[in-house]
Amino acid sequence: MIKASDFGPDFLWGVAVAATQIEGAADSYGKGPSIWDTFSKRSGKIKKGHHPATACDFYHQYQSDIRLVKTLGFKIFRFSISWPRVLPFGKGPVNKEGIRFYHDVIDECLANGLVPYVTLYHWDLPEALEREGGWTAFSINHAFNEFTTLCARTYGDKVKNWIVLNEPFGFTSLGYMLGIHAPGQTGLTSFFSAVHHAAIAQADGGRILRSEVPGANIGTSFSCSEVVPYTQSEADVMAASRFDCLMNRLFIEPALGMGYPETDWDVMEKFTIQHSTWRHTGRLSFDFDFIGLQNYFPITVKYNPFVPILQAWEVKAKSRKKPHTAMGWEINADSFYNIIKQFAAYPNIKNIMITENGAACHDKLTGNCVQDTERIEYFRLYLGALLKIKQEGINVTGYMAWTLMDNFEWAEGFNARFGLVYNDFKTQQRTIKDSGYWFQEFLKS
Ligand code: GAL
Repeated sequence: MIKASDFGPDFLWGVAVAATQIEGAADSYGKGPSIWDTFSKRSGKIKKGHHPATACDFYHQYQSDIRLVKTLGFKIFRFSISWPRVLPFGKGPVNKEGIRFYHDVIDECLANGLVPYVTLYHWDLPEALEREGGWTAFSINHAFNEFTTLCARTYGDKVKNWIVLNEPFGFTSLGYMLGIHAPGQTGLTSFFSAVHHAAIAQADGGRILRSEVPGANIGTSFSCSEVVPYTQSEADVMAASRFDCLMNRLFIEPALGMGYPETDWDVMEKFTIQHSTWRHTGRLSFDFDFIGLQNYFPITVKYNPFVPILQAWEVKAKSRKKPHTAMGWEINADSFYNIIKQFAAYPNIKNIMITENGAACHDKLTGNCVQDTERIEYFRLYLGALLKIKQEGINVTGYMAWTLMDNFEWAEGFNARFGLVYNDFKTQQRTIKDSGYWFQEFLKS
């Protein structure tokens, strides 16, 4: 049976959350609207018309929620600062109540012996900046640097661990290419300009933190998915390679000073040729202290000439009769092992932390219990794979479970439950699930 102590005494165990998904108080206490506040008001964008206005009411319940993190036995609490809560217009006037709130959250962590890991950008762009073009506009970099400087100067004496961006591929692809996440922009031109400005932001953010926060431990978090060709045919293998450029290589390679993955992907090359300055990789790279990796599923792809750009599409786990979570995401701990190894093979990565991993299940609250045995099994398998990676000598130093409690799961609304703690969204009653108790025992072991 796997034990936390197998990972060694210095391994860091944490749980991750994000502002929009839990805070609520979306239009109170001086907070400005974020793109998620406006996007969720557009009809048909979020399942069942849900919106993050109240979410888990963490804004009012942060003290008991942070105590819950301690009760479960974690040492790290990863949360994000809502940009429009501290800068309601994205730049300019500062909201003192917002600044106070994160001081309170940080102080509560420290009082409970938890180490705060702060994410600067977990997808809640101030709506005022979206009106200027959001991540597609060059001006976003100036505004992001102002936000980063404010956070670093305000909290840097208490917070030493920082994550600049959460999954830049996630918010640029879902929000600026496919339009299924906020702000709902579509098309390749907006996607690639959002990508470029996000790539600049991740490196600029690192540099600002380095100069403003003495002793800072600076990382940024990438989504990653092993990409598997459906067959070994040349067409499927090439399709998988294009998907890999898009899903796995697009942000880490510029961050490491390697530029964009254009040689293996002609569409990317077309954009870098059009914008020759994108090849000036100096501003895109930063010497991160750690790389955050977030993995949920592998992806199997098949050549498909009718799909524009990629000429490839995913063959879903369900149709391949593979085990999957309530999101339809394939459960496959070997693929977790493979993709972490793929990233670990890049030169110059000093340290890897798993900054998110977890599963959505069809949880049912019965009395005071949630018997989520599937989630327990998921964590067992994935932690087993992680241990193997660590034992092979890869410098993985921490693991953060996604997530503390059921929350606002973006376009899925409150319909997908990922928490170790069940949340009743009507009463805001928290109930520790069996997986939460499992982690509590595991972390004691
Ligand atoms: C990640 C995201 C989290 C959470 C998780 C589960 O991509 O960073 O905020 O939603 O997926 O879907």
